[in-house]
Amino acid sequence: MVKSLLLAASVILFGAAPAINPGSAAWQPSEPSATGVTGQGNPVKATAESQAKAKKLYNMDCALCHGESGDGKTDLAKDMQLTLSDLTDPKSLADQSDAVIFDVIRKGKDKMPPEEPARAKDDDIWNLVIYVRSLSKGGGAAAGSGSK
Ligand code: HEC
Repeated sequence: MVKSLLLAASVILFGAAPAINPGSAAWQPSEPSATGVTGQGNPVKATAESQAKAKKLYNMDCALCHGESGDGKTDLAKDMQLTLSDLTDPKSLADQSDAVIFDVIRKGKDKMPPEEPARAKDDDIWNLVIYVRSLSKGGGAAAGSGSK
């Protein structure tokens, strides 16, 4: 706890450092901050643990529409007459950035409900992004076969 507070404090300090000399023309953003959601790249790194968690979340909150495999061929999708892309097809998400997919999951889209912050923190969503991308690679990223 104390340790994580210290870590958070140092991240804040580190993140604020460039603001100390905002007038410096030489200053350029070098690397994205460790925790910062830059709006572009995915700030989390998939681990077996994070992907196992993402898989669980996916199976609870997403699979009812998208299917465990991600192919979107579910009864609910049929009943709701949803037009779902086949997430097992690498082409489906190929031209969408992680940030765009993050937004779809966080905010929802048309008939897709938003994933509330109470259910999934930002990091959980970023891991879901990695997870849904992994569905086109045989499923489950580091979380096993996903063939269930
Ligand atoms: C009630 C059914 C439903 C649930 C639950 C649901 N989705 Fe969706 N999802 C949709 C629909 C419908 C779309 C298509 C939205 C559109 O583009 O009009 C969609 C689109 C998407 C897309 C974009 C696909 C593309 O080709 O653009 C992703 C990624 C996605 N969902 C992931 C998820 C994840 C992850 C969850 C769980 C947190 C989830 N969905 C939960 C119905 C659902």
